[in-house]
Amino acid sequence: MVRGLGILVGLVFAFVVLWAFGHGAYTYVTNPPEQTAEARYHLPPREEVRFSFDGPLGRFDEQQLQRGFQVYREVCSTCHGLGQVAFRSLRDIGYSEAEVRAIADQWPHQVPSINPDTGEAATRKAIPADHIPGPYANDTMARAANNNALPPDLSLMAKAREGGPHYIYSILTGFRNPPAGYEVPQGLHYNPYFPNLNIAMPPPLTADGQVTYAPGNPRPTVDQMAQDVSAFLMWAAEPNLTTRHAVGLPVLVFLLIATILAYLSYQNIWHGGDRRVRATGALDPENMEKRQQASREAGVTE
Ligand code: HEC
Repeated sequence: MVRGLGILVGLVFAFVVLWAFGHGAYTYVTNPPEQTAEARYHLPPREEVRFSFDGPLGRFDEQQLQRGFQVYREVCSTCHGLGQVAFRSLRDIGYSEAEVRAIADQWPHQVPSINPDTGEAATRKAIPADHIPGPYANDTMARAANNNALPPDLSLMAKAREGGPHYIYSILTGFRNPPAGYEVPQGLHYNPYFPNLNIAMPPPLTADGQVTYAPGNPRPTVDQMAQDVSAFLMWAAEPNLTTRHAVGLPVLVFLLIATILAYLSYQNIWHGGDRRVRATGALDPENMEKRQQASREAGVTE
């Protein structure tokens, strides 16, 4: 009786589950969910742009990093900080000590400090040991100046987003008119490379020649400036990339040689030899024989 009831309940349960599944599948087929705008228009980072540091042996191009720094200083630093990078690190991309001191001294933003006489909050000019100060004293101030959007610190941006420098390059060159019928919310800008398509940053690089490069450099087109600043931000996020790449290959070669040596040693010493286990001590047949003999002589039965 109880068993029959159990089976009945089970059958009803199985029926309900099957019916719900069938109903769900039927509605999915007859009335498919609408594609979201993100799924329709979002584009992956543009991988076709090549950087000198791409690939396992790539290295930074110092000239390009300096151009990128110039773009950062003249354009991006009005809104974005670079708080993880110290001015003195700029020596690594080819600036001399005097140049670094001048860059820090003339930086458009000052660093927080105190008035030595009164102890009140004040600011002072940057020195090479300071981290590159951003334009805003705090996030609230940053939001207030940017339509309530927070311009993130760019120090680690190239590591924080999928596609890294390719993503940054795509964002900078990706501003365009929205597709017909797509409404961009007030105060935002259409950019298919940004995950939700509407970015709060106004297009920062708008005209060729916005930054003047020193003679001997490529023409500062929007595309070139975007590439250069993306490369610079990659350096900011991973300054040791060139060293890492330079060390990686010798280490792999070393490991390969060590593997070959280990294999040859194995062949030479152990492989193919007589691998029978040799009985020793009490288990050695010779010792066993001696023991039995001694037992017999002493009249002990084992
Ligand atoms: C007028 C201020 C302003 C300038 C100038 C500016 N940005 Fe931005 N940026 C913003 C704001 C605001 C955001 C936040 C956008 C958001 O969250 O919608 C942002 C976001 C970003 C992001 C992050 C996108 C993400 O995935 O979160 C990157 C990368 C970026 N900016 C790079 C740059 C670079 C490189 C420059 C210089 C070429 C630059 N920005 C110049 C205001 C600015």
